[in-house]
Amino acid sequence: MLNLGVNVDHVATVREARKVDYPSPLEAALICEEVGAWGITAHLREDRRHIQDHDMVELKAKVKRLNMEMGATEEMLGIACNLKPHSSCLVPEKRQELTTEGGLEVAANLDWITESTKRLQDAGIVVSLFIDPDEAQIKAAAKTGCEYIEMHTGAFANQTGAAQEAELQRLIKAAELANSLGIKVNAGHGIDYKNIAGILEIPHLHELNIGHSIIGRAVIVGIKQAISEMIDLMREYPC
Ligand code: PXP
Repeated sequence: MLNLGVNVDHVATVREARKVDYPSPLEAALICEEVGAWGITAHLREDRRHIQDHDMVELKAKVKRLNMEMGATEEMLGIACNLKPHSSCLVPEKRQELTTEGGLEVAANLDWITESTKRLQDAGIVVSLFIDPDEAQIKAAAKTGCEYIEMHTGAFANQTGAAQEAELQRLIKAAELANSLGIKVNAGHGIDYKNIAGILEIPHLHELNIGHSIIGRAVIVGIKQAISEMIDLMREYPC
């Protein structure tokens, strides 16, 4: 079965636009779980532009599976090892970016990513590395001891036609390679209600992490329906 992880950062983005206490990412997360989301993802960014430290504490206390997206920094490692979410997904983080652009450079930072992975695992946290569907990055990820990679699907989502098909083939090849190396495969970024049809052609997927399209759809139809529609589409996954 293909699992849905819902990224609730965008709920916090709306709240932080006014610096008030609504809408609550926790309230949204609990509804997502109620209607079938497998996990809840939240990215505690260095600049705290959306999710705040207290959100992480509240989410950890109340949701079944919290996936903490985080940069591999001393500060975030300290917070994660203390909080002990179900899993941590290490992502690259740049201050000026609108969202996570590109995957983690594992190959070029192998020692630090390996140490970060071990520190998180020693705290009982499952580790995933957010990487581009690239052979060198996957082979490097295998050396770190991580349990999962999350393949960055942004390049696929941003393309159309033949260029999108080429990106899909890259993702398929990368998933095959990761699986052959014993790494479990997740995917995320830019997945929406239309392009998910292509995503479902990728083999060996365990979980999709989806945020913007679901929260955007929720504004129109409500979060319960937005989640149910996505889960219905994901049921087509052949496994
Ligand atoms: N996975 C990772 C690692 C991300 O950084 C993001 C964006 O925060 C997502 C998934 C979700 O992307 P989107 O909001 O485009 O669905």
